[in-house]
Amino acid sequence: MRWLAIAGSSLGALALVGGMCLALPTPLPPWRADELANVGSLGPWPPPAVRDASNRVSGRAEAAALGEALFHSTRLSTVGGLRCASCHEPWRYFTDGRARALGAEAGARNTPSLLNMRLQHWFGWDGANDSLWSQSIRPMLDVREMRSDAAHVAQALRDDETLRRLYALAFGHAPPADNEMALVDAGKALAAYQETLASDRTPFDAFRDALARGDLDAMERYPVAAQRGLRLFTGGGQCVACHAGPNFSDGEFHRSPIVSRLHDGTLDSGRALGLKKLLASPYARNSRFNDEMNAAQEPAAQPAEAGAFRTPGLREVSATAPYMHDGSIANLCDALQPHAALEGRPMPALTLAERRDVVAFLRTLSAQERAVLIDEDAMICR
Ligand code: HEC
Ligand code: HEC
Repeated sequence: MRWLAIAGSSLGALALVGGMCLALPTPLPPWRADELANVGSLGPWPPPAVRDASNRVSGRAEAAALGEALFHSTRLSTVGGLRCASCHEPWRYFTDGRARALGAEAGARNTPSLLNMRLQHWFGWDGANDSLWSQSIRPMLDVREMRSDAAHVAQALRDDETLRRLYALAFGHAPPADNEMALVDAGKALAAYQETLASDRTPFDAFRDALARGDLDAMERYPVAAQRGLRLFTGGGQCVACHAGPNFSDGEFHRSPIVSRLHDGTLDSGRALGLKKLLASPYARNSRFNDEMNAAQEPAAQPAEAGAFRTPGLREVSATAPYMHDGSIANLCDALQPHAALEGRPMPALTLAERRDVVAFLRTLSAQERAVLIDEDAMICR
């Protein structure tokens, strides 16, 4: 009967208070068992930390300290002043606010947030890397981003007094004479740092936990529109089919109808290109740089669908516009139009009212006290 008590704040009927008529919102039916299971699968938050066996300094605070110094260092790049943090700005949830990245030259893809990276297993929109450390080497070598090379990075580790000292603390010896080994170690320290970048608990997490333990008083603090949006997200909208688990990403690739071009004018084939790059990478998990004993010798064969991109996580999504792999969508509500296919079928289209509710829900995936970056105009459904 406590359901009536919650419904009290969201009753569809007209209530007479002090002689005035108040129209109250439509009641929400109780949560069904299957809905409860779907909502439960989106937590708990934060999930437990797991070491990356392919990186011998994963989980080490000393390596994270070196990684953080490298992340903010201009010495990794040959382009004056350019750092990882130029594009992944910490105060912007590690994005740059641009549609497409700008490094040594203009890029073709949107800069993703680095929060909760430790929960992914493919990296980049196209999964061109299969570890966080190899993904961290990529921007250093990319001529359109930091335009660097192993010798330049190794020299920074050897010559810069702070980096040299932090390297010794992290790895237990001086930076190696072998430039490529030094480059890979820089990537592994950067990965150890990025493993620590996790988003905070949100109003959604409080609601999910309250729902799981049947704490109706705590549940009541969650907005009714967000509850309706969550129902669509986990139900008819089929969002959880891809935006699954505590990070709201299944980590896999789905065909997107958004067509974009690379800097040379060719179509961005997404996963098809990413797999080609992975198979050609000297730093893949099947390379000699993997620190794991008995690592797999061959990358797992994957069907590479042209035009497919990795499902982005949605935590803090309201503060990380613009959206999609090419940054072509500025408005969060517009981003909810059908944008991916599941087993060949496009995701269902939502009505305007439904999209408003889903936006209300997505906004609860931000820790409130840090939500200063939210552009209210970009949240409006028109
Ligand atoms: C010029 C801007 C720029 C710079 C500088 C830059 N990045 Fe990125 N970063 C990007 C873009 C754009 C992507 C998406 C790449 C893609 O999918 O092709 C990305 C992707 C990533 C990813 C994968 C994110 C995901 O969702 O899978 C990681 C990790 C990352 N960068 C770390 C770094 C590190 C570490 C550095 C410094 C060594 C760095 N980045 C420097 C723009 C930049
Ligand atoms: C078939 C898998 C799939 C389904 C179903 C799906 N998405 Fe997505 N979603 C993706 C992929 C893949 C992208 C990236 C597409 C691109 O970049 O071209 C994406 C992008 C997004 C983005 C932009 C995030 C960013 O950081 O750029 C939002 C927001 C989003 N989805 C929300 C939803 C919601 C809400 C639903 C349900 C109404 C939903 N998605 C259903 C796979 C899916």
